[in-house]
Amino acid sequence: MTAVVTDKNDDRVPTRIEAGIKVKGAARFAAEIPIQGVMHAALVQAPLASARIRHIDASKARAQPGVVSVITHEAMPRLNQGAFLALLREPRVHFAGQPVAVVVAETATHARRAVALINVDYEALPAITSVTQGSSEAFAPKVAGRTSTDSRRGEPEGAMAAAEVTIEKRYTTPTHNHLALEPQCVIAVWDRDGAGVTVHTGSQAVFAHRKAIADGFGLSVGRVRVVSKYLGGGFGSKGSAWLPCLMLGIAAARHVGRPVKLELTRAQMFTLVGRRQETIQTLKLGAMRDGRLVAMTHDTVAQTSSFADYADPVATPTRVLYACPNVATSHRLVRVNAPQPNPMRAPGEGPGSFALESALDELAHVLKMDPLALRLRNYAERDQHVDLPWSSNGLRDCCRVGAQSFGWARRPIAIGTMRDGHHVLGWGMAAACYPVYRMASEAVVRIEANGTVRVRCGTQDMGSGTYTVLAQLAAEALGVPVDGIDVELGDTALPEGPYSGGSMATASFTPAVEAAAGRVRQRLIDLVIEDGESPLHGLSADQLVLSDGYIRAGTGNAAERLADVVARRAPDGIEAFADAAPDAAPRYSSYGYGAIFAEVRVDVDLGEVRVVRLTAAYAAGRILNRRLARSQFIGGIVGGIGMALHETTIMDERLGRIVNDNLADYLIPVHADMPAFDIHMIDEDDPHLAGGIKGIGMLGTVGTAAAIANAVFHATGRRIRDLPIRLEHCL
Ligand code: MOS
Repeated sequence: MTAVVTDKNDDRVPTRIEAGIKVKGAARFAAEIPIQGVMHAALVQAPLASARIRHIDASKARAQPGVVSVITHEAMPRLNQGAFLALLREPRVHFAGQPVAVVVAETATHARRAVALINVDYEALPAITSVTQGSSEAFAPKVAGRTSTDSRRGEPEGAMAAAEVTIEKRYTTPTHNHLALEPQCVIAVWDRDGAGVTVHTGSQAVFAHRKAIADGFGLSVGRVRVVSKYLGGGFGSKGSAWLPCLMLGIAAARHVGRPVKLELTRAQMFTLVGRRQETIQTLKLGAMRDGRLVAMTHDTVAQTSSFADYADPVATPTRVLYACPNVATSHRLVRVNAPQPNPMRAPGEGPGSFALESALDELAHVLKMDPLALRLRNYAERDQHVDLPWSSNGLRDCCRVGAQSFGWARRPIAIGTMRDGHHVLGWGMAAACYPVYRMASEAVVRIEANGTVRVRCGTQDMGSGTYTVLAQLAAEALGVPVDGIDVELGDTALPEGPYSGGSMATASFTPAVEAAAGRVRQRLIDLVIEDGESPLHGLSADQLVLSDGYIRAGTGNAAERLADVVARRAPDGIEAFADAAPDAAPRYSSYGYGAIFAEVRVDVDLGEVRVVRLTAAYAAGRILNRRLARSQFIGGIVGGIGMALHETTIMDERLGRIVNDNLADYLIPVHADMPAFDIHMIDEDDPHLAGGIKGIGMLGTVGTAAAIANAVFHATGRRIRDLPIRLEHCL
């Protein structure tokens, strides 16, 4: 039986353990790390989308007071790295905004002023500035995210021809930018002998960055330390597409023989830290009159840069969410002289679910069927894509719980019937799934002689609650309060932890932390049992409980403080290491699920769309902290609201430049855009996943845009297939 965790906060659920120091400004983000004698770097960026650099005249800049060095491609070290880094050393411009030189100066102001004095002579070259322009050259990438580029089961063409009803539509999603609150920053400090480097940066993967830096500069990983204690978000942008700038900062520091800080501006975050790629998706559904899906095809064309390949796994939901014997999917890329895309919150599943869940709504409308009933009619009993049973699949629970709470049963099937003055209301829904990713993780748990418990794991906290859940896992195992636990993360000097991305961090480190904490617990129990001085001497392990910092007999009053046990019997503390890794050949397929229900209110005179309320129910394994999980789901949903109604990157196709590279013109949802949230979590017990965790960060973004677009259709009869939905679409 599954317990539903309702949308109510509970004072017993810990808040973020680092909230206090963040509120007080005492948590140091990368840009705030004080480093003696640090120099400041600024970037010279190309104004053209495609060009060759003929000559760079930096003489004026070099003559400025405070300027230490101007480094161009000629002086850049030949980094041993792949495509992402090619642009550091070539006299070639691939997109407007590409760095072509780095100024290092005594202050940030000196550096920025010098940038304006550098003259670059370019030979302009022809550029492809949109996906449409380059679509005749579309090619198949090697992979789409972590999945195969193409898929095929059954006979989709034949089955489509035999279907009683077909839907064939084209959906588009624009380029989105991550725009984390904290802009990217690197401070690089080389050792005195130049043999190693310490890098402070906001990183979603300190160990992956360490490897990239070591490879790039030809160092052993032991010579590179990456530190990332706090992040003001990332949404995927603090992974690999940030590498070129990271490398520029590190290379500049080596070049000038001083520590160097490079901090990006908000405008630079539109070009230099990755983006969600633009997609053009063609979706075909074939169904029988009773709603059963018999064929689906989903073909995506998306943007990548002219110098590296990146493809989101857009078709994942189409491959697995519904039962259908005949399915084909494909991903193609088009090279555009535009910034490099990379993963952005629910990469692939976000845009892909917009197309799939919109098309399902279109099919329901044609069949005159309730959209929720259509989803349930096509519930998948197993993963037909990889042909494995589910480890668990909570989609039906999500649909039941969400529909009940939203009041979906009262939805009129007719369009535009819910009037309220000059507003018309609409109700729309979508289903969601997101794969469970895991990677190997190590962890160390330790209790000191004074009773302090420490957890050490080289993962990161993007602001989502990793510090807190690491503390909770140890607190739970050792029966100590969460408050006093000392958590260390975000440093390659720690045991290797997972990437903070793909919603995999918690799922990956939980088994390792639980195993390490379990070993410490066992050692504590063994110590009191064998200790003649302990009041618990001679009891058996199953008679003992650990709670409130004590180890006690389950019955009676015999008890001892953990600190006393450690001080007496293990004065150097007790420490345990553990590691965990996902199954190499999983026998089950694992996804988190959701059902999203949106009510929109459309002003019939002005076309303005407001999301009034949003109910969502999720089944994502074991929920460690429902307060933070709820916050994560809402964060994901807000991203979905932005996708539906606000966010788009506008390219001037004549010049190949982004025209809205600022937060005044790139719209994001703000407080006034927030609906009433009604979030439910179905606490799933998945026996086939170590630790039982599925991951929640990405799931909230999946399906949300479609639920809103479907609600707009229900209100207005306008089917919007091109995001974002604008006023003029609804008039
Ligand atoms: Mo994520 S988009 O893998 O941070």
